[in-house]
Amino acid sequence: MKYIVTSALPYANGKLHVGHVAGAYLPADIFVRYLRLQGKDVVFVCGTDEHGTPISISADKEGIQPIEIVKRYHQSIKAAFDGIGIEFDNFSGTARAQHYELSQRFFSELYENGHIKAKTTRQFYCENCQRYLPDRYVEGTCPQCDKAGARGDQCDACGQTYETTALKDPVCKICGKRPVIKETKHWFILLDHFTEQLKQWISHKDYWKENVRNFMLNLLDQGLIERSITRDLSWGVPVPLKEAEGKVLYVWFDAPIGYISSTIEWAAKIGKPELWKDYWLDPDTHLIHFIGKDNIIFHALIWPAMLMGQNTKYCLPHDIPANEFMNLEGDKISTSRNWAIWVDEFVQDFDGEYLRYYLAANAPEKQDADFSFKDFQLKINGELNNVLGNLAHRVFSFAAKHFDSQIPCVSLDETPASLLTEADQIMTEIAASYENYQVKRNTRAIIDLARRGNRFFDEQKPWLVIKTDKEKVKQTLWVCASLLQRISVALSPIMPKHMLALRKMMSLPSLTCWQDAFIKQDFLLHEFKPLMKKIPDEAIAAQIQKLHSKADNSAKKDYEPIKAQISYEQFAALDLRLAKVLEASAIPKTDKLLKLKVDLGFETRELVAGIAQSYKAEDIIGKTVTMLVNLQPRKIRNTMSNGMILAAHDDDGLHLVSSDGGQPGAVVQ
Ligand code: MF3
Ligand code: ZN
Repeated sequence: MKYIVTSALPYANGKLHVGHVAGAYLPADIFVRYLRLQGKDVVFVCGTDEHGTPISISADKEGIQPIEIVKRYHQSIKAAFDGIGIEFDNFSGTARAQHYELSQRFFSELYENGHIKAKTTRQFYCENCQRYLPDRYVEGTCPQCDKAGARGDQCDACGQTYETTALKDPVCKICGKRPVIKETKHWFILLDHFTEQLKQWISHKDYWKENVRNFMLNLLDQGLIERSITRDLSWGVPVPLKEAEGKVLYVWFDAPIGYISSTIEWAAKIGKPELWKDYWLDPDTHLIHFIGKDNIIFHALIWPAMLMGQNTKYCLPHDIPANEFMNLEGDKISTSRNWAIWVDEFVQDFDGEYLRYYLAANAPEKQDADFSFKDFQLKINGELNNVLGNLAHRVFSFAAKHFDSQIPCVSLDETPASLLTEADQIMTEIAASYENYQVKRNTRAIIDLARRGNRFFDEQKPWLVIKTDKEKVKQTLWVCASLLQRISVALSPIMPKHMLALRKMMSLPSLTCWQDAFIKQDFLLHEFKPLMKKIPDEAIAAQIQKLHSKADNSAKKDYEPIKAQISYEQFAALDLRLAKVLEASAIPKTDKLLKLKVDLGFETRELVAGIAQSYKAEDIIGKTVTMLVNLQPRKIRNTMSNGMILAAHDDDGLHLVSSDGGQPGAVVQ
């Protein structure tokens, strides 16, 4: 069986930061290295995602062509991957000729098979910039709640989505002028054609990560709607239809096709131009897409539908391990505020494999994780140095002192033998975890192996026993060296270079397979060179300082203008109370709304709150919040909403105005 492993194509519109690496790249690289140790036939592809509005806007700002931006960041991203040992078999880009050709073929086949239809839509057009404005390039006042700062198609404040053209007081986000409305024709993929096939396909995916599977089931449940796959832009893959002049394919339509075009490029490069077919055209191939959670819908729904609608029978995704996000020192990573750790800078200050280890040990697998420099130091010093490095150091120096660095394979008494049996049990678990993308757990298990070695060494007291029983000491050393041998295999997907160095020091050959961990042999140790270096406090302090000094905290916030003055009577007309949330549940077919039942002391009430993007139902149950109770009831999505709970909103989302005590029903004034 063959494997195609992919990492989400990074946009060629910025540098690579640690958050990217933790989500879609390192986990894939580790997985591929593990598969190869198991002798699997894998091709590992990626490339830059080179289209989309932001790239053409960056180009306009600099007065250069989009391709120049693309070239710059393609190079920079590639160099960053090299710096941390992420080794794709091919790293392509979506602005290349063979990608255009394949993407157009994808469109044409879907079109000929009746899965695409044209519709005339009304869209904002900026006459000053002479371009149509995609949704996130217009801002205005929400037609529903009248708040400023609403985006083209939805308002973050109240959660409503609406027709773009309903937006009030629209402004072009590029130039600030008021856009006009123009008609334009676009092409839509009819996703509902694939509902049954997708349902059938996903019914076999019970091994998927819960976040991805539930997301999909939920979408399928709601019913699939058509999605526009063309844009009015000049930068992109031209839509292959006569009547579509001046239009390009939507970046999310062409990007995933990059997985195939990159494989085609790879096959050509290695002189076997047909080889890509052995992977992509075999229905049994395990096609595995590593992505961040924001890409789930494209990989689990739209992309499979695109594949299903082709005449060519490509394999479908086997698994889509989506990771959560990585924050930085407790705050969301933000490239615009420069609150980020850039990989190229990081590897100038630290060994790239330290970053691999830390991101693996702290992987955002099931929930968001936080990158903290102190924690980074703690893991490198406390785990890699004090536990693993220490074990190696003790074995090497003791063997050098008493056995001329030679540790022959000896038969074992019960205690050392049982330690190795346990270790081999752990090795089996480690292998299983790699197969399930659980690298975080594996860093713990591997350090645990080393810890057991240290404990064993302490208990055996070779420094005393050497005086009376040399044979026993040989056993101790041989078992500890055998643990190091196992670690040199188990940790190699995460720290390949360091493990290679360890094996060299132990005169073990370079790794060929997982079973190398268990070969029984005599060990000849070479001179010991410390495996890892400790990170001093000053180095960490300097990083923290650098992070803060570079971050643009001065970025001007857009505060809303103060509203017109009101009288005390007007204020007193608002009846605000404390309310305790008794029940909360998501409202189907929306991602913004929660239905709440609250206790007001004198009665319970139901209301609808547009807070689902910041709060899950379980986060809010039991909280005491502030509620406006004399607001006219309003029907929202078939539910009567009897009041409004108060929340502040800022760049991080919504923050409920909750109280630190007080009885439900208490008056707030
Ligand atoms: N460029 C997208 C992002 O960074 C990911 C594209 S993945 C692909 O979010 F499938 F479209 F290639
Ligand atoms: Zn404009």
